[in-house]
Amino acid sequence: MTDMRLLSKQDDATLTLGRMLAACLPPASVVALYGDLGAGKTVLSRGVARGLGIAEPVTSPTFTVVQEYRRPNGQWFYHLDMYRISDEQAALAFGIEEFLYATNAITLVEWPERIAALLAPTATIAITLTHVGESQREIVLPDHIGRQLLATGLPAGISQLADA
Ligand SMILES: Nc1ncnc2c1ncn2[C@@H]1O[C@H](COP(=O)(O)OP(=O)(O)OP(=O)(O)O)[C@@H](O)[C@H]1O
Ligand SMILES: [Mg+2]
Repeated sequence: MTDMRLLSKQDDATLTLGRMLAACLPPASVVALYGDLGAGKTVLSRGVARGLGIAEPVTSPTFTVVQEYRRPNGQWFYHLDMYRISDEQAALAFGIEEFLYATNAITLVEWPERIAALLAPTATIAITLTHVGESQREIVLPDHIGRQLLATGLPAGISQLADA
């Protein structure tokens, strides 16, 4: 599967992109968010939460590992951060299956490389964020998601980059 490359010029743009991304996610989606510390994974997640109708503050689950939010439609939004989880064994001990394989939730995973073996290779939507500058981030996402975003129009502050 090919990828689409976007450039975000500021954190607000990444937030808005997340909000639009929410509309592109089928029920029970699992989204793996790759990227270094400060790349913008939590900012994007906050936007997705807004797009899913969650009004309460969305904070980083680094220490709690998982934050659960109820959506207005009764389904769930699970926000996972595997940074402090050493490997798949530790994640299973924590009870990750409940969140990763939920049928009534959209699940976003920060630091998914920690649990690579638990992620369904074809079903997982992989998004990678990379520092470009102080307030710029490259965001690479699956082409089929990118095309849906283009169809509704990219938000201000987000532009499409040429293929690598
Ligand atoms: N274009 C941008 N998109 C997203 N965040 C940006 C952008 N420009 C600057 N930032 C800043 O970068 C930081 C991103 O922080 P965030 O917590 O989202 O990173 P993270 O990838 O979740 O890191 P961690 O691995 O520590 O969880 C924020 O302080 C945000 O304001
Ligand atoms: Mg984070």
